[in-house]
Amino acid sequence: MGSAFPRASPSSSRRPSSRAIMSEFTSPGDSESMLARFEGLARKRRATRHFSQQPLERKLIERLLLTAQWAPSGYNLQPTRFVVVADPRIRSRIRRACMNQQPVKEAPLVIVFAGDHRAFDRFPETLEADLAGGAITAEYAGFLRKMVPLMFRQGPLGLNWFWKATLIPLARLFVPIPQIMAVDKRFWLAKQVMLCAMNFMLAAEASGLGTVPMEGFDAGRLRRVLDLPRSWEPILVVPVGYAKQGPAKKTRLPLERVILWR
Ligand SMILES: Cc1cc2nc3c(=O)[nH]c(=O)nc-3n(C[C@H](O)[C@H](O)[C@H](O)COP(=O)(O)O)c2cc1C
Repeated sequence: MGSAFPRASPSSSRRPSSRAIMSEFTSPGDSESMLARFEGLARKRRATRHFSQQPLERKLIERLLLTAQWAPSGYNLQPTRFVVVADPRIRSRIRRACMNQQPVKEAPLVIVFAGDHRAFDRFPETLEADLAGGAITAEYAGFLRKMVPLMFRQGPLGLNWFWKATLIPLARLFVPIPQIMAVDKRFWLAKQVMLCAMNFMLAAEASGLGTVPMEGFDAGRLRRVLDLPRSWEPILVVPVGYAKQGPAKKTRLPLERVILWR
């Protein structure tokens, strides 16, 4: 890992306690002002095209990534992984994998948001943690122990994949069946990872940093340059830093063009 930022003390990566988080949300009268602040934040976030070279504190980045981790995930499997690239030599190599996009060169830090195809391996761990924390009942845990492996397991040599991919669409003609992760793994991973990435970008905005989400990259090359574990799939590249210039004006489609009420 590069040396662009000072090492944080171990305590900086500790999650804030639930009590500390909840104390910020105790007054119901706060909801209007919280919403107004959140609206302002969401509207202010723009894709940053030019970054200053000002280095970033490792402590701050860890804090933002902890916030990213609070994004929801299917069955709380938390498949998002972060690859934090500060080393300018690695950044210049990944820039090529990112179609030479300028922000990858300019930003002092690039974070690759990846999805772990093996997230299901941690299912017993996350399930027990949720059970111990009182987040789920023993009855629901029992249901998940049966259901989740059915959704994710591909069996030896991926052989279960075959019947899941062929028989389930047939069964779906007769009964409702949700998306099966063992079949649509990349789609499933992309959904989960993007939620974390959005949390990260909003938290970064709140801290005065700019970001730009990027899908313009060659995943195979990126994977090789970063020497990623085999099961980690790059989903989004996000250069991060202080913006060099004000945000460009952007528009959004009128709400009535993108909404259906039923
Ligand atoms: C999934 C996704 C992929 C994107 N990929 C790129 C990219 O490769 N390069 C780039 O310059 N911008 C990229 N963008 C940024 C968009 O162009 C930008 O978000 C959009 O124009 C809206 O502008 P705003 O973010 O400033 O509101 C991407 C955005 C998203 C959500």
